Formats: sequence, C-alpha cells, structure tokens
Amino acid sequence: MMRLAGKTALITGAARGIGLEFARAYLAEGATVTLADINAAAVQAAAAALGPGAHAVQMDVADPASIEAGFAEAVAQMGRLDILINNAALFTAQPIVEITRADYDRIFSVNVAGTLFCLQAAARQMIAQGAGGRIINMASQAGRRGESLVAVYCASKAAVISLTQSAGLNLIAHGITVNAIAPGVVEGEHWDHVDSLFARYEGKAPGQKKREVAAAVPFGRMGTAQDLTGMAIFLATPEADYICAQTFGVDGGNWMA
Ligand SMILES: NC(=O)c1ccc[n+]([C@@H]2O[C@H](COP(=O)([O-])OP(=O)(O)OC[C@H]3O[C@@H](n4cnc5c(N)ncnc54)[C@H](O)[C@@H]3O)[C@@H](O)[C@H]2O)c1
Repeated sequence: MMRLAGKTALITGAARGIGLEFARAYLAEGATVTLADINAAAVQAAAAALGPGAHAVQMDVADPASIEAGFAEAVAQMGRLDILINNAALFTAQPIVEITRADYDRIFSVNVAGTLFCLQAAARQMIAQGAGGRIINMASQAGRRGESLVAVYCASKAAVISLTQSAGLNLIAHGITVNAIAPGVVEGEHWDHVDSLFARYEGKAPGQKKREVAAAVPFGRMGTAQDLTGMAIFLATPEADYICAQTFGVDGGNWMA
C-alpha cells in the first residue's frame, strides 16, 4: 500500500531504533523522509542505506539554532513538511537521592524542550504552507505512571503527553493534528541501556531485567519497532483526521489508560 504517497516527513532521532524503523515504514508507504539525528555519521549512513526518498540532517533537538537549521535543511531537501515525528529522547535511571541537576537538565532539554521546540518549528512551517499537517510525539507508558528508579524520564514523558494535549488543542485551528504514541518495552539498543542501569541499581545479571519485563507483558514478549509502525502510519493518514490531542498505548497490553 502507498498510504503516504506524496507526503513529506521529518523524523527526529532516526539514526537507529524506532525512529529508523518509522523512516523505513514511511518510505514503504510512498513518503519522502528526512531522518534527523544528533549523530551525523550514523544518520547519514542510515539514510543512504534506505535509498531514494530518504535524506539526512544532523540536528540536536536540545539546541534551538540546530532545530532552526535542521528544519530549514529538511524543507529544502523535501520541498515542504507534512508530518513530524518527535522521536528523539534520552533515558536515565537512578534513585531519587542520586539525581543530579545536570542529568535532569540533559533529559528535559532533549525529551521535553526538544519535543516542544521541534513541534513549534514544524507548526510554523505547516501554518505557512496553509494545508495543515500531522505531528506525532513519542511518549511512553513511563509517562502514565511513576517508576521507583525512573523519576526523571517518567516525568519527561508525562510532559510529552501534556504537551500533546495543549499543542493538539492549539494547532487544530490550523488543521494540524498532534497525537502521541506510548510504547511499552521495545527491543533495541535503548533497552540494552535500560537493562544495564537496572543491573547496576537492582543487582541483576545482564539481560535479567529484559527477561523480567518481557515475561510481564500480557502479549507475552517485548515489543519491536515494527510493532509501532502501524500506529505511526495510521496517525498520518486521512483516516485519522478527527483524532487530536490523544496518546495511544501500543504496548502489548502493558498499560490500560
Ligand atoms: N525502546 C523503548 O522501550 C521505548 C519505550 C517507550 C518509549 N520509547 C520512546 O521511543 C523513542 C525512540 O526510542 P528508541 O528505543 O528508538 O531510542 P534509541 O535510544 O535507540 O534512539 C534514540 C535516537 O535519538 C538520537 N538522539 C539522542 N539525543 C538526540 C538529540 N539531542 N537530538 C537528536 N537526536 C538525538 C540518538 O542518537 C538515537 O539515534 C524515544 O522517544 C523513546 O523515549 C522507547
């Protein structure tokens, strides 16, 4: 199917993991995609491997000047911008008494400020084009609840859910819908990092936390990036026109909103 034929999309944090899989899925649906990532070499290699229709820009979503330059470059590459997926994020974990201000600032500047100001840059471009648009934010089940060792990341993802609601309400007058996807636990380098942090703080063997969370998913396994692509495509299609300011769990039943 070519459900996104003629559409253009910018995906942040797309050098690997879920963002890269979204880029692959959007290209398969006929979209043109700019992959944006702080890791210039990795994002260029990823776009080159995806082939025609895939472009790369180096962008640090925590840096306003980098956002401005990155969006301008993406629009120059693709001609216009119809869809933004706000996917770049960092994870951190530690007991409350070990949280540092520097780590809090690092996580919030990427996960929250990055989401807000990329969303703003996309909205400005879409409003100037005058034909509406789609913005999809990556939240998390972690944004729906607290977790003992994950206070900062959970709070950052709760903020993404809140921003999705406010921006959704504000931008619908311009025909721009803003929605979010809340994954559960997804296989990949992100969760390898999570596993290593739990190994440190909970005294678990490497790989043990992953096995535990996988066993706890009602579906019976961890998610994959491919499990998320259906929702990311659907939210960008006309079938989702009336859906606005919502966050959708795609998590194998891990969390019920
Ligand atoms: N993997 C999971 O289990 C899971 C669960 C829930 C939500 N999520 C969310 O899904 C999204 C993608 O997760 P993932 O597992 O693919 O993560 P990942 O860590 O594998 O990939 C994140 C990408 O973002 C890039 N990035 C980091 N900082 C950046 C910055 N300042 N500017 C631009 N790019 C930057 C990284 O270079 C990397 O390519 C994130 O928002 C994450 O919070 C993931």
